[in-house]
Amino acid sequence: GVTKKILVIPGDGIGQEVTAWGKKVLETIAANYKHTFTFDEGIMGHVAIEATGDPLPDSTLEKARQSDAILFGAIGHAKYDNDPTLKVRPEQGLLKIRKELGLYANLRPIKLFDDLLQASSIKPEILQGADILFFRELTGDVYFGEKNRSEDRNSASDLMIYHKYEVERIARKAYEAARTRRKKLCSVDKANVLEASRLWREVVQAIAKDYPDVETEHMFVDNAAMQLIKDPKRFDVVVTGNLFGDILTDEASQIAGSMGMLASASVGDSIGFYEPIHGSAHDIAGKGIANPLASVLSAALLLDISFGLKDESQRVIRAVDATLRQGYRTMDIANKHTPNEFVLGTDAMGAQVLKNLN
Ligand code: NAD
Ligand code: IPM
Ligand code: MN
Repeated sequence: GVTKKILVIPGDGIGQEVTAWGKKVLETIAANYKHTFTFDEGIMGHVAIEATGDPLPDSTLEKARQSDAILFGAIGHAKYDNDPTLKVRPEQGLLKIRKELGLYANLRPIKLFDDLLQASSIKPEILQGADILFFRELTGDVYFGEKNRSEDRNSASDLMIYHKYEVERIARKAYEAARTRRKKLCSVDKANVLEASRLWREVVQAIAKDYPDVETEHMFVDNAAMQLIKDPKRFDVVVTGNLFGDILTDEASQIAGSMGMLASASVGDSIGFYEPIHGSAHDIAGKGIANPLASVLSAALLLDISFGLKDESQRVIRAVDATLRQGYRTMDIANKHTPNEFVLGTDAMGAQVLKNLN
């Protein structure tokens, strides 16, 4: 077996509730396959602000740098969402760790489990067979450009900026992935209006020449938002900027049935960082009803991408598949019109996955 150090950062709200299950899955895999995974825990977000005043304390960043992979939950608290004047905010911790660790490529696979065909609000025949891999650029764009507020406080701006090298490196990663899939790449931008998008399109067009075996398509983001719902099967790999990628993947979660099903991998210069795409979900936090599968599937991505443990990763995905086939659902993927469904809370659902792992 292999020996690895994993840093777990549960964060806030349902992050705490679901990450416990991603971690348990990693522990179970380690036991079953005779690997040695050692776990450390770090704080980030609202809990870290409460404890230290800093959404990403140096101690957490230091632990992150010393680990072989990171499993993250979610950050955020209603207090900040309701008060935009607060200067220190949980989200800053997440943005900072992505930047510090050079996590420029955020992979968000959108794949529907067979048994969830009825869980989505989209018609089954539109969904069946949809399989999309998003490459969301994660350390540039309007997220990291200069921010300004005028002295009279009556105007504000966030600079949308991309550098050629940033577009090149994410585009290459996306093309490499397309080569291993259905060899189609769709680059999404707003080049009809934005200069940053015109740079984006220019760079992708240039990189495309190195991948003649991959079919390239350029699409405006407004159209992409519509096509995703109209005909999700037309997409294979999608590469896009930080903001568009954020929005389009929440939309695309409906293709997989729920936000509670979507995992992600952030990779780049060094270690990998794995997290559900969802947030801390104040509306359901503390109720024990959040879907833990996005965290479980994030653990599966971690095993595959950071540790190269493909069999173990597939084993986790099969355990999720089996759990859904047995009819177990959390409330976000339940369908009252489908018989033989058992609606469970977070812990009972997690426990079923563990059972199917053994
Ligand atoms: P959210 O993703 O937290 O929730 C959106 C909706 O999806 C809610 O109705 C929620 O109940 C539901 N949902 C999300 N995850 C679920 C799960 N696992 N099981 C069942 N239902 C689930 O987005 P939001 O409400 O816009 O944001 C809440 C807070 O989370 C904010 O403070 C925001 O900044 C933060 N946020 C953090 C991250 C992150 O840490 N990566 C991502 C998005 C939002
Ligand atoms: C996500 C989140 C974050 C983002 C926020 C919380 C900073 O929405 O991970 O998708 O916008 O990247
Ligand atoms: Mn988001």
